[in-house]
Amino acid sequence: MLTQSDESFTLPLFREGMSHMHTPQQRTCSAAARQQSPTAVNMSVALGGNILVTGTSRGIGLELVRQLAEKTGGGAHIYACCRDPEGAGGQALRQLSALHPGKISIIKLDVADERSISAAVEAVKEQIGASGLNLLINNAAINKPASPASLLTSGKKDMMEVFETNVVGPFLLTKMFLPLLQRAAKSCSGDKDGGMSCRRSAVINVSTLLSSIEKCPETFAMAPMYPYRISKAALNMLTCCQAENFRADDILVAAVHPGWVRTHMGGEEAPLTTEDSVLGIIRVLSTLSSKHSGRLLDWEGNSIPW
Ligand SMILES: NC(=O)c1ccc[n+]([C@@H]2O[C@H](COP(=O)([O-])OP(=O)(O)OC[C@H]3O[C@@H](n4cnc5c(N)ncnc54)[C@H](OP(=O)(O)O)[C@@H]3O)[C@@H](O)[C@H]2O)c1
Repeated sequence: MLTQSDESFTLPLFREGMSHMHTPQQRTCSAAARQQSPTAVNMSVALGGNILVTGTSRGIGLELVRQLAEKTGGGAHIYACCRDPEGAGGQALRQLSALHPGKISIIKLDVADERSISAAVEAVKEQIGASGLNLLINNAAINKPASPASLLTSGKKDMMEVFETNVVGPFLLTKMFLPLLQRAAKSCSGDKDGGMSCRRSAVINVSTLLSSIEKCPETFAMAPMYPYRISKAALNMLTCCQAENFRADDILVAAVHPGWVRTHMGGEEAPLTTEDSVLGIIRVLSTLSSKHSGRLLDWEGNSIPW
């Protein structure tokens, strides 16, 4: 259910500004997605193998699991991570998993807790086998304090909490999964498509347009969001560092902006549905190659400046 919360983007200024910034592109995307023939919408995608997504209890993460389970072939397996797999928070995920017997493993993971990250990595290692981890999607994030999260309303506690979840979590998770990503990159090295891809071995960090330092003069007034913006700019640097670091291993690392999406975080005024955003993201991920490593792209494949 969509609710106003301290993680919601729906302040009036932001609504107005974002609809101005996103409407033309998002109308095109949504209309295009709706006009797709059922065959095109149900296309299989150039993704597969072992895929792990964080923050899958709701929103974009849950929809990523739904579409990945539907659109990937029989050999694919999705590790869907959430904080509360057995409680109310995991209910939608459990229902989704029941629709795809054997294809989704639900893994307990709090990305702000290092011990939880270690335990999740061990749990995945036990199940994953020789082929390794092909795609890691760092999706879980928070936006605190309540919007607009101005300089005056944001304090140290907000900064630290947001950094732990949005930056330190993806940093540790990717570091701990590196051996499994390397294993996947090696075991796919004989594939006909050769180079880097999200099918072979990749890390995708879910970022945002609001992370862009170059775009800040255009976006700041509508959404100050100090801790969130700064954390996502740091996530972008993590993306760049790891893209360079992992190039020799043929592991692709990129950041993706999902658009302004109707979720708990995006709020009910957002123009994009999770379905359309994720459809776009999956299409974009299917086309990524070495030239995209270290880049920030939106859900339609457009490049966003750092
Ligand atoms: N919605 C937008 O308009 C928009 C725009 C740009 C970028 N994004 C990005 O898109 C991604 C998904 O956002 P969303 O809109 O789907 O947000 P959302 O509806 O608020 O969902 C956030 C997800 O992250 C999980 N999460 C939060 N803290 C966590 C932690 N410590 N450990 C594990 N999971 C945690 C939540 O789990 P719980 O249920 O346990 O809280 C939830 O599943 C985020 O990276 C966000 O920054 C969103």
